[in-house]
Amino acid sequence: MEKFIINGGNKLMGEVEISGAKNAAVAIIPAVLLADEPCRIENLPDIIDVSNMIKMLHQMGADVKFVNRSTVIIDASKITNVHVEQDWARKMRASYYFVGALLGKYNVAEVPMPGGCDFGVRPIDQHVRGFEALGAEVSVEHGVIYARAKNGLTGCSVYFDQVTVGGTINVMLAAVKASGTTIIENAAKEPHVVDLANFLNSMGADIRGAGTDTIKINGVFRLHGTTYSIIPDQIEAGTYMLATAATGGRVLIKNVIPKHLESITAKLCEMGAEVEEFDDAVLVSREGTMKRVNIKTQAYPGVPTDMQPQFTTLLTVAEGTSIVNESVYDNRFKYVDELKRMGASIQVDGRVAVIQYVPTLTGAAVKACDLRAGAAMIIAGLMAKGTTEIEDIYHIERGYDDVVGKLRLIGADIKKIVRPDKTELHRAL
Ligand code: EPU
Repeated sequence: MEKFIINGGNKLMGEVEISGAKNAAVAIIPAVLLADEPCRIENLPDIIDVSNMIKMLHQMGADVKFVNRSTVIIDASKITNVHVEQDWARKMRASYYFVGALLGKYNVAEVPMPGGCDFGVRPIDQHVRGFEALGAEVSVEHGVIYARAKNGLTGCSVYFDQVTVGGTINVMLAAVKASGTTIIENAAKEPHVVDLANFLNSMGADIRGAGTDTIKINGVFRLHGTTYSIIPDQIEAGTYMLATAATGGRVLIKNVIPKHLESITAKLCEMGAEVEEFDDAVLVSREGTMKRVNIKTQAYPGVPTDMQPQFTTLLTVAEGTSIVNESVYDNRFKYVDELKRMGASIQVDGRVAVIQYVPTLTGAAVKACDLRAGAAMIIAGLMAKGTTEIEDIYHIERGYDDVVGKLRLIGADIKKIVRPDKTELHRAL
């Protein structure tokens, strides 16, 4: 069993480079299916979710060549099947983007229901409604999504009842080659939605309005190959910003788009940290005590739900009482019990957490309940007194590129250990 061991108390100092955005990469990789030529994708994060998406494409018959750790050339123009394997698909949420991409190119898709972090029920009704509006028949049988458009896809209007990142991306993928015009209303505005639209446009698509709540897609007959560099990861950057503030350190966080970090920056400054913005970097520092704030997570440009566990962790040692309201998911406070093991004082009632100041957290054995909760445990370990051991770190490695290496470079005392399992112990005896 693998673990992270952190000896807390070191101030983070120096410079850290942010990798490409996970949630853009996992949308752009299946989008390659739509091109009739190879695509070169740069600034890919080296994380498990990305390698799983690439494995799924490869298993469908795509030709994949890594140029280096963050650049890949994929030729998915001649795949041999439209069926995605269970094993990888169920490990992550984004595998459902293969439904939109396969429908968009071949009018047919067979994709297992996705997995991903467990925040309560995560329905896909809005995706299905979008595919059906475009003319597909969709059913879920034995855990597999079957989608087919016998007469091809035709542009339409889709109004989402709820702002959904995945639904917006999936409908965009399906509609990009449909005949006629598709209008998505109440679309998600997240940076990775815009990045996917830019990627598709660089292949010859005609998508306008991404980044606003109305996206207009004029279907095109064919998409060509492209070279494209993925945007920096907003949430990875935000996580390092909070980790720096948590330890009272000073770190230049490079390769970021400061505009994408505005809601995070605003809350950190309200808490008493300093954030200086440059063209493609932010310098975060914190010297005095941290002040309480209230936070409500919201779709972009609000405070991202994917930063909620990290903020809650930081607020455990902020003077006063803070309230965190989770407005996107029903059940995203499971990790709070782990923080309580470290001495935090938090009461959760449904989607609201009330956090009372404690002077310090103390190291303990905890687990990563999911990806961002795992990042929160790292932040807790960095600011705690003593040693913290984090289990179930595979969640963290799904989404953070070389987190141990990057943190060590800026002064954290963190290491990954691989504990021998029982079979290995028997062999050793
Ligand atoms: N929803 C529905 N019906 C749908 C789709 C969504 O009711 O058909 C609800 C969800 O249950 C949720 C809300 O709408 O309550 C928003 O869900 P959304 O579809 O926006 O989330 P997602 O596409 O499943 C992506 C990210 C998540 C991030 C959310 C919100 C990817 C692969 N995942 O999920 O990222 O939390 O958007 O910003 O892009 C993470 O990176 O750690 C992560 C969980």
